[in-house]
Amino acid sequence: METPSSAGGAFDVLVIGSGAAGLTAALALAEKVKVAVLAKGTLTGGSTAWAQGGIAAVLDAGDTFDEHIRDTMVAGAGLNRRETVEFVIERAPHAIQRLVELGVPFNMEGEALHLTREGGHSHRRIVHVADATGWAVQQALLQAAEAHPNITLLAGRSCIDLITGRHEQRYSGSGRVWGVYALNEETGRVESFTARATVMATGGAGRVYQFSTAPRGATGDGIAMAWRAGARVSNMEMMQFHPTCLYNLQVKNFLITEAVRGEGGHLINPRTGKRFMAFYDPERLELAPRDVVARAIDSEIKRFGLDCVHLDISHQPPEFVKSHFPNIYEKLIGLGIDMTREPIPVVPAQHYTCGGILVDLDGRTDLPGLYAAGECTESGLHGANRLASNSLLECLVFGEAAAADIMARWETFEAPPPVRVWDESRVTDSDEEVVIKQNWTEIRRFMWNYVGIVRTTKRLERAMHRIQMLNGEIEEYYRHFRVSTDLIELRNLLQSAELIVESALKRHESRGLHYTLDYPAADAEPMDTVLVP
Ligand code: FAD
Ligand code: SIN
Repeated sequence: METPSSAGGAFDVLVIGSGAAGLTAALALAEKVKVAVLAKGTLTGGSTAWAQGGIAAVLDAGDTFDEHIRDTMVAGAGLNRRETVEFVIERAPHAIQRLVELGVPFNMEGEALHLTREGGHSHRRIVHVADATGWAVQQALLQAAEAHPNITLLAGRSCIDLITGRHEQRYSGSGRVWGVYALNEETGRVESFTARATVMATGGAGRVYQFSTAPRGATGDGIAMAWRAGARVSNMEMMQFHPTCLYNLQVKNFLITEAVRGEGGHLINPRTGKRFMAFYDPERLELAPRDVVARAIDSEIKRFGLDCVHLDISHQPPEFVKSHFPNIYEKLIGLGIDMTREPIPVVPAQHYTCGGILVDLDGRTDLPGLYAAGECTESGLHGANRLASNSLLECLVFGEAAAADIMARWETFEAPPPVRVWDESRVTDSDEEVVIKQNWTEIRRFMWNYVGIVRTTKRLERAMHRIQMLNGEIEEYYRHFRVSTDLIELRNLLQSAELIVESALKRHESRGLHYTLDYPAADAEPMDTVLVP
């Protein structure tokens, strides 16, 4: 674990992020080299620990890779790269086996792993630990990393920017990545971490929206850092909204897993008392892919002037509900909702960032020395809409792939040159923290209202106008005041918002998660939106 005196330093490889992607990469790398894992806040602060439903893998004799591939591409509205989809899905059984070996206590059915079902899947193929899969996965990976002599875990390091050729003492100006500048949240000092290779695994940008199931730190830091350093990003307009986030005035951002619908839950319009999915997707009903269900709920809410819709599983036996969803049951009981007897009020909320740093099958980015894995990337797996429970899987497969490529090329990676220390000579302590809070709130609100589930060009242009105004203000603030985690996140949040809106403005069609009233049809040929810095 972290020692209090650690103050920057040189390692063989740096991993930024301690979620499923980062820890998987670290564990694979540590077999041969010394690795430091940096994370802002705590080591369990990412989305991984929050995952509920599970991990998709073909494990049943009646299921096939081809069907999982087809379901992934149908959900992704054809924008997926087939090569990536095959790569990930064929490695899923191995990834699950690794987790079993690490001690993840997946639910069993006799001798076999129990498989639940989620929207868009034509088979039961989701392995899970009741309704708190992510926490079990996070704990198993963390315990293995803590026990590994070649891994140094450094919590409380808020990474600011990548160290590249621009920061070498003998300026080379190259895009080669040598590490990262990170704020030590305890001392308030900025430290330099260098390495032969760096793996970005910082998760998504969900908190750019007012309502999101993602944790507080999902501010797109890695995507923004890689973009500023010169890496391309792709498909940032593809923001996934989960159909069923709890609607409650005290508790915000609590997910009600898709597995509730997978195990028979119905969506009901509280005004009519009737199920409504048959109007939107007569065949797949509540188990249609997320984009379809989220738009259907959004439409019902708007048409009937509702606050929320209802998700009802009370027709299933109470013991069945309690044993499948013990954590959700307990949480709701605490709020006075008994899901075995009454419906759960739900609304859609931002849930997953499908776009991100462009990577190849080895997790390589455009920048020499920089790899990326997990939700901060666009690998080609998800296309225009992620299939449920394919995300943890992507983290596991690409964490290993990036580590394997780094080891395969190890002899070609030079040792980092001397780099410049962070210059704080021209900054002072901020006297107006309220500016950060105000801008943070403003971004999240206009992103929700103008760049949400249903878009128009006019609304996107409005959002871009607001972003351009805030850009100058936040950059000026950043240049004059000492950095804090809040300020680092605000800068990245705005950068992520800009990438999302710019991408959305470039896509003149509706496909998957990008639905615009101005271009309601899909183009004949699916094309990625690739932004070049
Ligand atoms: P994360 O787990 O988000 O980890 C990011 C790491 O980066 C954290 O350690 C964070 O501290 C660190 N970090 C970020 N910025 C910085 C910085 N500037 N400096 C230093 N460190 C930084 N997917 C599924 O497949 N199945 C599910 O059932 C499922 N359920 C979900 C439920 C919820 C409520 C949510 C929010 C998501 C769910 N997902 C699910 C999605 C999935 O959990 C995430 O996509 C996945 O866990 C992302 O893992 P990751 O390793 O890429 O990033
Ligand atoms: C859920 O449990 O509904 C979330 C699954 C996912 O995001 O993949």
